Amino acid sequence: MTTQTSYLGGGAGPPGLTRVATGKVRDIYALDEERLLFVTTDRISAFDVVMNEGVPGKGKVLTRIAAWWFEATADLLPNHLLSTSIDDVEGLDAGWREALEGRVMIVRRAQPTPVEWIVRGYLVGSGWKEYQAQGTVSGLTLPDGLRQASPLPAPLLTPSTKEETHDRPISPDEARELVGASVFERAESAALALFRRGSERLAELGIILADTKFEFGLVDGELILIDEVLTPDSSRFWPAEDWALDTSPPSYDKQILRDYLETLDWDKTYPPPSLDPAVLERVASRYQEVCQLITGERTVGAPA
Ligand SMILES: Nc1ncnc2c1ncn2[C@@H]1O[C@H](COP(=O)(O)OP(=O)(O)O)[C@@H](O)[C@H]1O
Ligand SMILES: [Mg+2]
Repeated sequence: MTTQTSYLGGGAGPPGLTRVATGKVRDIYALDEERLLFVTTDRISAFDVVMNEGVPGKGKVLTRIAAWWFEATADLLPNHLLSTSIDDVEGLDAGWREALEGRVMIVRRAQPTPVEWIVRGYLVGSGWKEYQAQGTVSGLTLPDGLRQASPLPAPLLTPSTKEETHDRPISPDEARELVGASVFERAESAALALFRRGSERLAELGIILADTKFEFGLVDGELILIDEVLTPDSSRFWPAEDWALDTSPPSYDKQILRDYLETLDWDKTYPPPSLDPAVLERVASRYQEVCQLITGERTVGAPA
């Protein structure tokens, strides 16, 4: 397999560009009043802690997959993507071009809604916990008799607030209060339509879309899809063949890292432990596999 180093970002960034935000995974720079430069690094987080090491090529995979979906969903609603071409980023020297190529998105600057628009198709994770405790998910009552990993009767919007550290689950009614009825209704129907499109396409590839998170923003009053979309970082993808009731099926992406972390004596707070390079390599090839499956292309190496 192709050995490559990882790009961790986080430093000063390309000369002449002002950094406006540093997320767990992305470095965001202002290009002008209307446009941002999104740089997706190879940083990886687990249990909300960003690891010291990167996953080689992960940022390129996420960029490639998100760009693919932005195109495949553009008929449902407009999105923020303007270009993924490094040639459209002015003023980079050869070194920066090489470092950032494949991991940039020039996007429309939006006013993000203060909500993470999560849609769930299956009962797992925190949804399963809530259902077991009180028969609800996101405060909504569900039929009796559902089991762990059951498909939900219909995909369910289970929003949460966007916070600096841990996001807080809220009911759809609370989300409506937060963003207003008009934005809520547009975001809800867009999220459900995007979820349907995503699960149909992924089902053809033998992948179950268990749940996923969308972000929306406003540009001149228009609601658009922002951030990343239907990537392994924003979604729980299950190989269909590994799905079984009464289990928490392994997800396609970070499971390898989470399982490995569980074997260490680490309390899931900063600082993170140092990671075994072999584990990082395995995670990296998993990301490449998902990229190949969804887009038909790898970002590095020969197609399998
Ligand atoms: N078009 C956009 N305009 C403004 N902000 C955006 C846009 N798209 C995404 N964002 C914000 O940029 C950040 C993406 O960086 P990321 O590393 O994913 O952050 P996080 O740690 O919050 O997940 C998010 O906070 C997201 O809300
Ligand atoms: Mg994010």
